[in-house]
Amino acid sequence: MNAEPIDILILAPQFAHAQAPRTHEYILHDYESIEAIGAAAHRIRGLITDGARGAPRELLEALPNLEIISVCGVGYDRIDLETCRRRQINVTTARGVLSADVADMALALTLGVLRRVVAADRFVRAGDWRPTHHFPLSTSLKGKRMGIVGMGDIGIEIARRAQAFRMEVGYHNRRIKEDSPFSYHPDLISIARWSDVLVLCLPGGDATRHVVNKDVLDALGPDGFLINVARGSVIDEPALISALQERRIKGAGLDVFADEPHVPPTLKSCDNVVLQPHIASATRETRAEMAALVFRNLDAQFAARPLLTPLAF
Ligand code: DGY
Repeated sequence: MNAEPIDILILAPQFAHAQAPRTHEYILHDYESIEAIGAAAHRIRGLITDGARGAPRELLEALPNLEIISVCGVGYDRIDLETCRRRQINVTTARGVLSADVADMALALTLGVLRRVVAADRFVRAGDWRPTHHFPLSTSLKGKRMGIVGMGDIGIEIARRAQAFRMEVGYHNRRIKEDSPFSYHPDLISIARWSDVLVLCLPGGDATRHVVNKDVLDALGPDGFLINVARGSVIDEPALISALQERRIKGAGLDVFADEPHVPPTLKSCDNVVLQPHIASATRETRAEMAALVFRNLDAQFAARPLLTPLAF
C-alpha cells in the first residue's frame, strides 16, 4: 500500500464503502456542498461520482488539483467535459460491467409492458380475478420487431436477449455497424415506423435531447411500445404523456425520467406504463463490480499505470 494517503471526494455515497481491493490508501470525503469542502478542496485529487450527479463546472472549479473523475456508471452527460479537456482531468466510466443488467432491465420492462405483468399483479391483489372476470389479453414478444436505438455494448446485449425471445431486431445508430446482422435504419422516424418495440439505449446530453418527440411517437404508432433505459432527457416527456393518454402509442416501460426523482403525476396516472426508479444497473453483483472498477481506475491513476476504462473525449 502506498504510504501517502490520497484525498478523494465522493458524490456517490452508495459506493464509498465498497469492499474493493485498493492499492492506495484513500481519505474519502463525503460531499455535502461546495462550501463544505472547505480547506480540503486543494488536497482533492480524485472524484467519485455517478451518472445522475455527474461533475458540474462549479464543482470542478472548486477542486484545483483534481486529476481524475471515476464515474460509477456509464453515463457522462452531466460531466463538464470541456473543463476536463482544458485541465487534462482524466475521466473513467464503468463501461462493460453493467451492460448485461441494463439489458435485462430493458427486457424486463418489455415483458412488463407487453405481457402486462405489473397490471396483472394489481388485478390479483385487488381481488378482481373472479370466475366471470378474466384479465385482458396481453401482447406476445415472439415475431415482433424490436428496434434498438444506440447499438453500443448495452444495445448488443439487448439484441441477444430479444433474439432469444424470437423477436426480429433492427437498429439505429450514429454510424452503421458493418458487422451487424441486424437491419440498419438511418433515422429515428424510420426505426420507429419499423418497430413494434422501440428501445432507447443511446447516450444522454445535448446532442440527443428530446430526439424522441411527437413525430417519432406517431411513427411508432398505436400498436407500438417504447422502452427507455437511457436518459430521461432523450424523450420529450410531455409529448410521451400525451401519446400514452391519447393511446397514440400502446405502452411504455421507463427506467429514467426528465427530472429525476420527480415523475409527473400525469405519467403516474397512465395505466399503460411501467415505471422504475432508475435502477437498471442496480443489482448487488453489478454494483459491487462497478465500485471495484472505480477504485481500480483510481489505483491505476495514482500508480501512473494505464487506466482500465478511460473515456475518450
Ligand atoms: C449509468 O450508468 O449511467 C446509469 O444510468 C446509472 O446512472
